[in-house]
Amino acid sequence: MIIDPCELSPSYVRSIAPYQPGKPTSEVARELGLKEESIIKLASNENPRGIGPRTRAAIEGALGDIARYPDGNGHDLKVALSRRYGVDMASIVLGNGSNDVLELVALAFLGPGRASVYSQHCFAVYPLATQARGARGIAVRAKDYGHDLEAMAAAIDEETYVVWVANPNNPTGTLLRPDDLEAFVRRVPERVIVVIDEAYNEYLTPELKSDTLKWLKRHPNLVVTRTFSKAYGLAGLRVGYALAHPSVADIMNRVRQPFNVNNLALVAAAAALDDMEFVARSFAQNLQGMRQIEEGAKKLGLDWIPSYGNFLTIRVGKANEVFRRLLKRGVIVRPVGGGYQLPEHLRVTIGTAEENERFLGALAASLKE
Ligand SMILES: Cc1ncc(COP(=O)(O)O)c(C=O)c1O
Repeated sequence: MIIDPCELSPSYVRSIAPYQPGKPTSEVARELGLKEESIIKLASNENPRGIGPRTRAAIEGALGDIARYPDGNGHDLKVALSRRYGVDMASIVLGNGSNDVLELVALAFLGPGRASVYSQHCFAVYPLATQARGARGIAVRAKDYGHDLEAMAAAIDEETYVVWVANPNNPTGTLLRPDDLEAFVRRVPERVIVVIDEAYNEYLTPELKSDTLKWLKRHPNLVVTRTFSKAYGLAGLRVGYALAHPSVADIMNRVRQPFNVNNLALVAAAAALDDMEFVARSFAQNLQGMRQIEEGAKKLGLDWIPSYGNFLTIRVGKANEVFRRLLKRGVIVRPVGGGYQLPEHLRVTIGTAEENERFLGALAASLKE
């Protein structure tokens, strides 16, 4: 009997639903017969400012080294991170995007017979990475669209080895207050790894930021992840990192591909980290754009989930239908039904003032259609 070769893969892998990324502009242009230049993409929480001149210069300067493998240890970037955040180099794990370091957590700490806890409406990678390892996912009902930390702590069972918390969360943009999050970290048993995913940390005002790096000293089971894909503008190069106790970092580094972060990503991230002004401008532009989109949504009589990230999740009713109407007008946003369980909402990334205006115009027209 001829078998489908996919049957050779473990059943827990076969049952994985593919991750649905934001649609690329080239695909939308092809499908809808639109000019690629006329399309705006507000679907993947990227930085509308692109990259700064210093980062661009660093990338251009490194082009000559592309024939060489990168520094597998990412020494220079680790030195830069270590200086910036006052953490030991041995506490840093670099990744091909922070997505990669999230996968490393799953690879290092999950497997059949183990479980991880996450929230309803959480970032899709937590359940995916859990399932890909044959581990059991424990989804905890959200509270006001955000993490219910009380319920998450209570959901931890003997098989739980990892708890995932995104702060702010994507796609809801919800934020946990520092005191509540710290109390949660204290409450989780030491035998459970607590991942605090801070992909949108740079969009927070200082008083809203949790002092997670300080907590690392007290909690050897804590893993903090961050990325260069958002406020630093390097989503296409793929670079992120985890900060953790050296022995946790060591285990994660053992399961990491030896050259997981490429040459250009390493130099670009080090240069971007230095360009505080670029991050400050990205922050300010995001805040303005957020207010612009909130105002526009208000005028349209729509509700949204108050967001602390670089995106806003707006309740539009039949979201898939509105999504398609926006696409026809050359505006790509992100439907968050399916695994995210928000079938009436659309997530829009904060763009430039012009992009935001165009989105709001297209949204108004789509709702009337
Ligand atoms: C909460 C959260 N974590 C992690 C990531 C992964 O980003 P990257 O792999 O580009 O660092 C994202 C991307 O959208 C995110 O929203």
